[in-house]
Amino acid sequence: MRNRFKGRDFLTLMDFDKEEITFMLDTAADLKRKWIRREPHALLPGRTVCMIFEKQSTRTRVSFQAASAHLGMQSFYMRPDEMQLGRGEPIKDTARIIDRYCDALVIRTFGQEIIEEFAKYMEHPVINALTDLVHPCQGLCDLLTIREKKGRLEGLKWAYAGDLWNVFHTSMYLAATFGMDFFAAQPPGYEPNPRVLQAAQERAKATGSKIVLTQNFDEILEGADIVYGNTWHSMGGPEKTKEQRIKDFMPYQINEAAMAKAKPDAVFMHCLPGYRGEDMTDEVIEGKQSVVFDQGENRMHTEKAVMALFMQ
Ligand code: CP
Ligand code: NVA
Repeated sequence: MRNRFKGRDFLTLMDFDKEEITFMLDTAADLKRKWIRREPHALLPGRTVCMIFEKQSTRTRVSFQAASAHLGMQSFYMRPDEMQLGRGEPIKDTARIIDRYCDALVIRTFGQEIIEEFAKYMEHPVINALTDLVHPCQGLCDLLTIREKKGRLEGLKWAYAGDLWNVFHTSMYLAATFGMDFFAAQPPGYEPNPRVLQAAQERAKATGSKIVLTQNFDEILEGADIVYGNTWHSMGGPEKTKEQRIKDFMPYQINEAAMAKAKPDAVFMHCLPGYRGEDMTDEVIEGKQSVVFDQGENRMHTEKAVMALFMQ
């Protein structure tokens, strides 16, 4: 199985089957154990990874850089406005130059087609650190966290409230792939990407899980094992004013009353950054059901697994 990843791109989890994703999770769990025991795991000494971030980041950027250091690699963080990309150098030229210096590119950008173009012109792996369409690094971390907290994935009910954007798409697809029921709050006027929805529905059909998008918040919360929040203001999100979004999403705020409708042992998850008083309340993120900081830590372990497998 390990050899199946060598040199491939990590652009979306829709490119991988359940067995491959499970192997990535097992690798992350193994690397996490090593990190906890302080066992050396510099598996890629002397390698280099270039990181281009066109949008802000705290978790993804720092976790990739920490994970690179643990693996014995050097990482370079680049902002497009500091690169010739920002002055109009074509992606295809930039990609081929980075490919000559570095063993992988980690990139956070807008359209999926941008990372696809980098991947087309690079021999080395391209790793998606978030696009408008998907956030596969987040998805892998979320599965690891759910597996740790609930001991399984199949048969769980995942309630999602927040923007119908990258994290939503990845969560929905993964839930369906792993046999979880995915219930999401859908304020009027917000639609997921139809291509991802269709792909997730096909997966759900195969695994027998449900995908339900509804305006009824109670319906998503009732019996939920996971209550998952996300910002209402995604970077590069659909054009609506901040005020309009607050008005549209406020009925779906994850507060204590909402948590009380889920299972008593439900966990609260959030990809972060979260905004107290909007997508969740201080009581919920600081409450005993919240696992968001364990979840955030897992970003480092899953990203390390991705680099260890794809850059081997
Ligand atoms: N969840 C996540 O990707 O966080 P950052 O935007 O801080 O990287
Ligand atoms: N949906 C959010 C996720 C941030 C990690 C965004 O795209 O801004």
